[in-house]
Amino acid sequence: MNTKIITLPGDGIGPEVTREGVRVLEYIAKKFGHQFEFEEHLIGGCAIDATGEPLSNATLDACRAADAVLLGAVGGPQWDDPRAKTRPEVGLLGLRKGLGLFANLRPVKPHPALAHASPLKPEKIAGVDFIVIRELTGGLYFGKPQGRFEESGKTRAVDTMEYSDAEITRIVQLAFRLAEPRRAKVTSVDKANVLASSRLWREIATEIGRAHPQIKLDHLLVDTCAMKLIASPAAFDVIVTENMFGDILTDEAAVLVGSMGLLPSASLGAPFDSAQGVLGVYEPIHGSAPDIAGKSIANPIGTILSAAMLLRYSLNLSREADAIERAVDRAIDEGCRTADIAQPGERVMSTREMADAIIERM
Ligand code: IPM
Ligand code: MG
Repeated sequence: MNTKIITLPGDGIGPEVTREGVRVLEYIAKKFGHQFEFEEHLIGGCAIDATGEPLSNATLDACRAADAVLLGAVGGPQWDDPRAKTRPEVGLLGLRKGLGLFANLRPVKPHPALAHASPLKPEKIAGVDFIVIRELTGGLYFGKPQGRFEESGKTRAVDTMEYSDAEITRIVQLAFRLAEPRRAKVTSVDKANVLASSRLWREIATEIGRAHPQIKLDHLLVDTCAMKLIASPAAFDVIVTENMFGDILTDEAAVLVGSMGLLPSASLGAPFDSAQGVLGVYEPIHGSAPDIAGKSIANPIGTILSAAMLLRYSLNLSREADAIERAVDRAIDEGCRTADIAQPGERVMSTREMADAIIERM
């Protein structure tokens, strides 16, 4: 098969980790006899510097025409001026919205050999295996009005949390579909005791739950969920939630696996279950980490596991995806460590060495 993959390395450590993700995909292509064509484009701060905007129409069109997109990270202190005309993050949000990627999948499964890397007690971590389905094109990130308004000498800034029934229905239905082959448990997270959008969310989730009696549905308020993620994380299977709640809860969840550098994500649109695979953007959940950029010490595993998700969801190549995931597991089992997951005295690998170690094990 001949496949076009757009790479958007972005800012900070984005280029370093994306490079390794591409090497892993090139190895897979060779080993399994596929043709992957890669084309690099700008997004985020580097795009602002080059073109004045964080996401050009050319980049967006290239992504639309491709089979999948592998993204590094966007942002950095040099683009952080609160009065700036635009920001790197605007490019990322524009990409998600522009491609209609309403579902962000963030699996969280700590590796037993890394239990020491998490600040939680090992007995809390044991058995943790859940996936967060974060709504990605609605809610507080996109609701209108949004902005800063000057009126009769006063300054106001507004964000709006808004959801339609259709937006809630498609994401909750997806969560139910993903729960089926897992432990058949969905936790819908909202703030229904305060927010109108959450009350609509809960009403729709309850209806969908009635139509799927084989799946156990719980509702949790987001504050309670934040607590349970630390107190009893092994109880979760599929968590489905609003855009910003999902943003916050998934950073919290990263603490369970021991390092942000390990977690992948997939952002998908419709039709999710297409046999040909669906267009998606795949990115590690860590940010651009400007403090370690250019030092070759970033952990490439989040990106490499994102590449595995790309194979599974966009290219329908689950055997190839499994091969990457198994190789990552073995590398960790056999003591391969980047700085973020090493214990004192352990040999620390560079970004490139870790990727090599994974490729060797495929
Ligand atoms: C994430 C990030 C982004 C988000 C930022 C960079 C805009 O935190 O993907 O979780 O808030 O969605
Ligand atoms: Mg985030």
